[in-house]
Amino acid sequence: MMAKVEMTASTALKPLSTGLIRASAGLNLCHENADELYNQRPELDFIQIHPEHIIQEEGGTYREQLDALRHHYNVILHGFGLSIGSSAPLDRDYLLLVRDLLEEHPEAVFSDHFSWSSLSKHHFHDLIPLIQNKETVDYMVERIDTAQEIIGSPILLENISSYMRYKESTMSEFEFINEITKKTGCYVLLDVNNIWCNAVNFKEDPLAVISTLEKDSVKGYHLAGCSLEHMGNGPVYIDYHKEAVHEEVWTLYKNCLERFGPWPTLLEWENNVPKLERTLEEVQKINKYLRPYAGGVES
Ligand SMILES: [Fe+2]
Repeated sequence: MMAKVEMTASTALKPLSTGLIRASAGLNLCHENADELYNQRPELDFIQIHPEHIIQEEGGTYREQLDALRHHYNVILHGFGLSIGSSAPLDRDYLLLVRDLLEEHPEAVFSDHFSWSSLSKHHFHDLIPLIQNKETVDYMVERIDTAQEIIGSPILLENISSYMRYKESTMSEFEFINEITKKTGCYVLLDVNNIWCNAVNFKEDPLAVISTLEKDSVKGYHLAGCSLEHMGNGPVYIDYHKEAVHEEVWTLYKNCLERFGPWPTLLEWENNVPKLERTLEEVQKINKYLRPYAGGVES
């Protein structure tokens, strides 16, 4: 049931609850792996669930499995429909659902993306990049403040993979993100694969890119496999999440751990999903990279 809470601008945010240990590794729950996860219950530090699935899957097997699994495992909440950068009004009912889920799961944080994906009642089912300039910073700050006030705690936003850039942008992606985190107290969910994809597609140095992101803003990582596609203008890496993490992305993850420290890290594999034992091998690989930090870092 949704909480009936009227929030005001003066409502203080709770500090971000990082109930998970920092050097921890998890896996996304999706339709393709739900049966195996439900039946096998392998050892995992956490699973990622989408609040949208709580709304959309009112009954049926997947909803039953989702509810059983989110009470079996620690969870993190990852949305894809907040559309924080859209000019459409924020969906308060959705944000109140997130608030309820965070109360139910004190170990969880809620994240979405630095993007927009809807206009009026139309949902594009895609994460569309933002014009990175001062005007958008101000707009994002207003929207994030409102979202955080409704939820009652800071949110994390993820850097996206994008295949176009606007002529109107006057800031780099991380200059834009740094301004927003500084003004709102929100944090970054760093998708290492998205950094690598964008850097290769736009012929940039991924190490130079990560050196521009504020060290204290990161609170979580995503790792996924992108795919090389041959388009009209030549080869481009697309973030399909349908294959294993590339070796170059593992190397960049190691660089990120050195710069930003260990944070809960999620393996995303949602398309062309192999047997669970294969995705668990990738989760074990995350644990291998996190091992030097195990036990040595306070949450
Ligand atoms: Fe991601």
